[in-house]
Amino acid sequence: MCGIVGYVGDQEALGVVMDGLRRLEYRGYDSAGVAILDGGLTVERRAGKLANLDKEVTAHPLTGTTGMGHTRWATHGAPTDRNAHPQTSCDGAVAVVHNGIIENFARLAADLEDRGHELASDTDTEVVAHLLEEQFTGDLAEAMRTVCRQLDGAFTLVALHRDAPGVVVGARRNSPLVVGAGDGEYFLASDVAAFIAHTRDAVELGQDQVVELRRDGYTVTDFAGGPVDVKAYHVDWDASAAEKSGYPYFMLKEIAEQPVAVASTLLGRFADNGNLMLDELRLDEDELRAVDKVFIVACGTAYHAGLIAKYAIEHWTRLPCEVEMASEFRYRDPVLDRATLVVVISQSGETMDTLMAVRHAREQAARVVAICNTNGSTIPRESDAVLYTRAGPEVGVAATKTFLTQITATYLLALYLAQVRGTMYGDEITDIVEQLQGAPALIQATLATVEPVRALARELAGAPAVLFLGRHVGYPVALEGALKLKELAYMHAEGFPAGELKHGPIALVEDGLPVVVVVPSPRGRNVLHGKMVSNIQEIRARGARTIVIAEDGDNDVTPYADSVIRVPQLPTLLAPLVTTVPLQVFACELALAKGHDVDQPRNLAKSVTVE
Ligand code: AGP
Repeated sequence: MCGIVGYVGDQEALGVVMDGLRRLEYRGYDSAGVAILDGGLTVERRAGKLANLDKEVTAHPLTGTTGMGHTRWATHGAPTDRNAHPQTSCDGAVAVVHNGIIENFARLAADLEDRGHELASDTDTEVVAHLLEEQFTGDLAEAMRTVCRQLDGAFTLVALHRDAPGVVVGARRNSPLVVGAGDGEYFLASDVAAFIAHTRDAVELGQDQVVELRRDGYTVTDFAGGPVDVKAYHVDWDASAAEKSGYPYFMLKEIAEQPVAVASTLLGRFADNGNLMLDELRLDEDELRAVDKVFIVACGTAYHAGLIAKYAIEHWTRLPCEVEMASEFRYRDPVLDRATLVVVISQSGETMDTLMAVRHAREQAARVVAICNTNGSTIPRESDAVLYTRAGPEVGVAATKTFLTQITATYLLALYLAQVRGTMYGDEITDIVEQLQGAPALIQATLATVEPVRALARELAGAPAVLFLGRHVGYPVALEGALKLKELAYMHAEGFPAGELKHGPIALVEDGLPVVVVVPSPRGRNVLHGKMVSNIQEIRARGARTIVIAEDGDNDVTPYADSVIRVPQLPTLLAPLVTTVPLQVFACELALAKGHDVDQPRNLAKSVTVE
């Protein structure tokens, strides 16, 4: 949430910062602003999307080679010009941008007002600008350290001071901030995407650290001013991966990239001895053999991936597996101990709810494995082991390719656990791995046949609501289909287990209501398939318009389906890799038919760094 860019070098900062903000706009898009140092300190900020700010700074460019910018997802204060960042001090000497929530801002604001400061916004951020004004005696980094020690909550802060030319200072606690190290130029950003066009050399900042950027280098300390070790890394993708590449929307491109994303996630994962190769492993096989319970913890789409993983983990490893929304996990005091394996799933690696779950689990001595798409992000850094999904950057706010790669990664993890614990034979594992390796081609084949799904979506753009039904792994797929439609098309959409429908939700079914049904393979548990065919008849008898997703060759559903969407055959547990795809396309096309921006749906942000 909120995108931050800082720059010092020899280029015009405005261009670098605006370009960085464009690449970070997925993090928040209700207002934006920039501050540029050039003898004086000039701030421009505008409510609305970045385009509003762009218009202003194109008409009246700001010059200077030191600057910063912000694209906002509002927490405190409405998305107005006044509440946009950068926020400034009374004397206009300090400008600050912020991502996160300063929990003790009300008390700090009252104290500042007692000391004569006038606060001009409704934001929690503004207090930092006034505190820096008080603390600054020539060293902005030192002032930042002093201020950070007074703050509670989560924050990434970047600041400029009129009297600190050529200096950009950043600080982080519980929110992301990365340094980009170029040749005679340095960057700060919430995400490497902001500076990837200039450098692929990045430096992770740790918890409670302050960084000072100058043209000749950077210095990182802890909040007390002590030296710290930082980890440098090379980003393994380039700027072109975060471009639309001819697609009108990132989401369309990311849906199309799914075969490659899944193939990359599978690539080279097994060593000669069959062991899964985790990217970072601070766990040994004895610890995995001692595991007696698995928790999967995640939010949103990643939570749906976890629900699918539960079926695979329990079936293949015979370990009990619970799946929990990260925002609920720590507050209900789950029973965890050293024999509990907690698997957290997060595309961004920065989701605050999930991060707090990681910390809670580790405090209870549980072992934590992260499945993550973002190298160097906080969640993998704080976990015991990491399996990266190699989907590449996902810019569209709605998760698509990362969902399929998350499912893929959980299959790998489940197979690895089964191997280590001896709950499957080697040839059984090999058989599933081979099926998985064939999945990218089947996803591609699914994508090649979605044109009728698009036509159907356009036809249903006026529907008041859509229901989604599934059984077994089809149930989380139904939830994901409904979530996509809600977030993109702003439509009422619900996913239900098909068997649960008769216990209440069937009352929603009325004449013409579109109901999408994800049908399990008849080659799997025959009884499940038969029950689903009955469920389709039940809703059809009540007037529903039935849209049935069924595998090739399943003709039992045809008589009861108003529309059939075909997907290639895969083993039951792996079927979500193909059944999800038409639902993504359906939601995207329906939202486009309604005239919505599918990359930046209203009220959302991609990386949710507040609880
Ligand atoms: C899905 O389309 C959403 N963008 C959202 O539900 C997302 O999956 C959730 O916020 C979790 O994000 P994470 O994977 O980055 O932790």
